[in-house]
Amino acid sequence: MHGQWSSRLAFILAVAGSAVGLGNIWKFPYIAGQNGGGAFVLVYLACVFLVGLPIMMSEVLLGRRGRRNPMSTMRILGEEEAGQPQWQLVGLGGLIASFLILSYYSVIGGWTLHYILLSAQDSFANADAALVNELFDGLVGSVGKLALWHSVFMGLTAGVVARGVEQGLESAVRFMVPALVLIMLALLGYAINSGDFERGLHFLFDPDFSKLTPTAILIAMGQAFFSLSVGMGAVMAYGAYLPQDESIIKTSIAVVSTDTAIALLAGLVIFPIVFANGLDPAEGPGLVFHTLPLALGQMPGGALVGTAFFILLAFAGLTSAISLLEPVVAWLVERRGMRRGAAGLLAGTGVWLLGWLTIVSFNVAADVKLLRGTFFDNIDFLTSNIMLPLGGFFVTVFAGWVMCANSSADELDPSAGIVYRTWRLLARYVVPVAVTLVFLNAIGLFD
Ligand code: TRP
Repeated sequence: MHGQWSSRLAFILAVAGSAVGLGNIWKFPYIAGQNGGGAFVLVYLACVFLVGLPIMMSEVLLGRRGRRNPMSTMRILGEEEAGQPQWQLVGLGGLIASFLILSYYSVIGGWTLHYILLSAQDSFANADAALVNELFDGLVGSVGKLALWHSVFMGLTAGVVARGVEQGLESAVRFMVPALVLIMLALLGYAINSGDFERGLHFLFDPDFSKLTPTAILIAMGQAFFSLSVGMGAVMAYGAYLPQDESIIKTSIAVVSTDTAIALLAGLVIFPIVFANGLDPAEGPGLVFHTLPLALGQMPGGALVGTAFFILLAFAGLTSAISLLEPVVAWLVERRGMRRGAAGLLAGTGVWLLGWLTIVSFNVAADVKLLRGTFFDNIDFLTSNIMLPLGGFFVTVFAGWVMCANSSADELDPSAGIVYRTWRLLARYVVPVAVTLVFLNAIGLFD
């Protein structure tokens, strides 16, 4: 019922397109800044490689074995391996999480669209902190502008998904990721020359463990899930298209390394600018939109570099947004018998409506604070820090404990070599124990 990726590279590109997005460049720097830098980054890296990577491998292997949308895959494999179709609830949780994440992701994606225009109009020329502030507040303070750009971003996402994902995506990502890295290297050059690079480095990589609260550890783990796109079945959905003879292990390692390198690169660009301009590293979701315009306004050719950068960032966001909408649409098509176009329209409209909660979080409802803060803060915390880790937990428990070793070895490495045995160790023990401990610690059960 599914097509297949044309090659391993095509699959890597699709998963990398999902993983590399606003999470790397918008989110990672601002939450690293809010959580004190170094120690947070260290925990983040540990979570990426010890927890996120084995979960990604588990998702791909389940996806390729089930060859359906994540919910049906979990139902069918649950039945096959253990006579327990209720494993589909893991898939359902993933669908709900992707819906919620996309609702705010699209609003931030809209910010990047607005910043394409600002750069193209050379609005950052010789900008100082006050001007950059004014530009940002002019955007997030305006319900109309946010709604407009959110609508455009969501329309693009739903449009691509409604047409079917395979075409165009491969070639877009093949160009986008390297181009994004190139421009970021140019920005890195600026940060080294004109930013306070030493302080930036120190902030990012010199761990101060006294800043590491139990909640910060949970947020670091949540960010690892978010950035790698694991925990909700997006990678599982893509794994369904992976040819049988491709190595899951190699592809997962390639994606995880690329994603992590780009997040660190973003941090290396942003923090030197923060410190050179006396900005606050903990200012929150506006961080990248306050720092990069300062650099762009000062560097030669900044308008051009900025326009290209924000176009690429919007693209990176779009390929991630597509992977958030695809599972919902695939489910509507396969289980509810809808046509792709209608399914895309229905799911897109639902997400668009939910996006209003995020839009008002930055202006008229900025003072409405529940549990974790604004509506946006709550949706973000619930999805990244609770739903994704829970989803990833159950996926690896299924792959490591419920699925028989023959099945998983069959997908990962029939010769059951050292890499397979390491994966199995991580999936059976390290991942479940780590997620549980981080949760218990954050709830305060260890106090
Ligand atoms: N990983 C993407 C980013 O970093 C966001 C994303 C896409 C995502 N698909 C996902 C997050 C699935 C969690 C689950 O921007």
